Amino acid sequence: MRLLVIGGGGREHALVWKIKQSPRVEKIFVVPGNGGMAEIAECRPDLSVGTELVDWAGAEAIDLVVIGPEAPLVAGLADDFTAAGLAVFGPGREAARLEGSKCLAKEVMEAAGVPTAGSRDFTDFQVARDYLDEQEPPFVIKADGLAAGKGVTIAMDIETAEAALRECLVDERFGEAGNKVVIEDFLSGQEVSVLAFVDGETVSVMPAAQDYKRIGDGDRGPNTGGMGAYSPVPFFDAAGQHDAVERVIKPIVKELRARGIEYKGILYAGLMVGENETKVLEFNVRFGDPETQVLLPRLQTDLVDIMEACAAGRLATVDPVWSTKKCLAVVMASAGYPDSPQTGDEIFGREQAGELDDVTVFHAGTKDENGQIVTSGGRVLNVTALGETFAQARDRAYEVAAQITFNGAQKRADIGLRVVQ
Ligand code: AMP
Ligand code: GLY
Repeated sequence: MRLLVIGGGGREHALVWKIKQSPRVEKIFVVPGNGGMAEIAECRPDLSVGTELVDWAGAEAIDLVVIGPEAPLVAGLADDFTAAGLAVFGPGREAARLEGSKCLAKEVMEAAGVPTAGSRDFTDFQVARDYLDEQEPPFVIKADGLAAGKGVTIAMDIETAEAALRECLVDERFGEAGNKVVIEDFLSGQEVSVLAFVDGETVSVMPAAQDYKRIGDGDRGPNTGGMGAYSPVPFFDAAGQHDAVERVIKPIVKELRARGIEYKGILYAGLMVGENETKVLEFNVRFGDPETQVLLPRLQTDLVDIMEACAAGRLATVDPVWSTKKCLAVVMASAGYPDSPQTGDEIFGREQAGELDDVTVFHAGTKDENGQIVTSGGRVLNVTALGETFAQARDRAYEVAAQITFNGAQKRADIGLRVVQ
């Protein structure tokens, strides 16, 4: 088989790494790819992600297209491939609105009876500002559309909340994506990421994962794209999984079907597990990053078989098997991340680091510059390790991360600490 993977982050490196293990795969192209994927796939940063890529894929006789990030999904790229007769893993434009519009996601959840935080939508700054006066802090303010992970503000005081509203509705910091905002009730508890394969009807849930969103130890400092992750999640057991499938994933897929929308690909529910209740924080329409990096090493079934079955609507014929091993990833980020990441720094120690059993270094923001791997983005590397226990996985990941250096590298020291204690 010939596959085309779209994306260039740690998630896509993990996808390509797993796809490569399939005996059915002859060739993998990645657009654009990154410095780490070049060893296992043909990276094509020269091709742009858009409709012209569809013609290219047709000419290259691509058997399966895998779309990693949300932006091309929300833009409808999966529909373009489908219309050209190509098999694609990832939802179409209408289905991808579940991530592309937080207001729509709320409306679908309400219709499907899926538990989520109470909320209201606003397009007018003054109306939204007046509404804040009736609410208690913390205030949760979300830009409706895609904002590269920067569209959510949790404000402890009314001034910060007002500033967030102003950014969206007056200053148009996020452009059209911020023309509408959702103000929702604050939820407390533990966050869990639950991802499922979906073929339009059948749902196959993966083990849960937990992501660390803040830059600093002890969950301090600004939000990032994710500084580390682990899987499984000890407190979120089989009952939690079952509940998430029956009360969240299946009702959403069913509600979309009733609207004539077939959901195919990954449905990712970001859950807040409270003392008495679990509620949905958000939906993503793709694999999580860095959750994918701790899930795929645990997957024992051929990923290509699963993705192909999803695309063809016959997921019921595949039964994905997951290892009981624990997996943990430590993100190494560049200096200045998340606000203004510094790039172009040479990375040292990667080769020695790759030799430990059960450790894989997935690249996120790297590029090959005349044979040298240098940093090219905020999140640079994901040092990922499997172990029989969390302690073993954690020790291995940190041992390898300690061997890798680049100018100003940042990493959290507490990834997985709560599950080894
Ligand atoms: P989202 O992109 O909607 O997942 O929001 C990003 C992050 O903001 C989440 O991972 C949570 O940490 C936090 N968050 C979002 N919504 C809420 C909420 N209603 N209550 C508390 N925290 C939230
Ligand atoms: N790790 C969070 C996300 O992928 O959105």
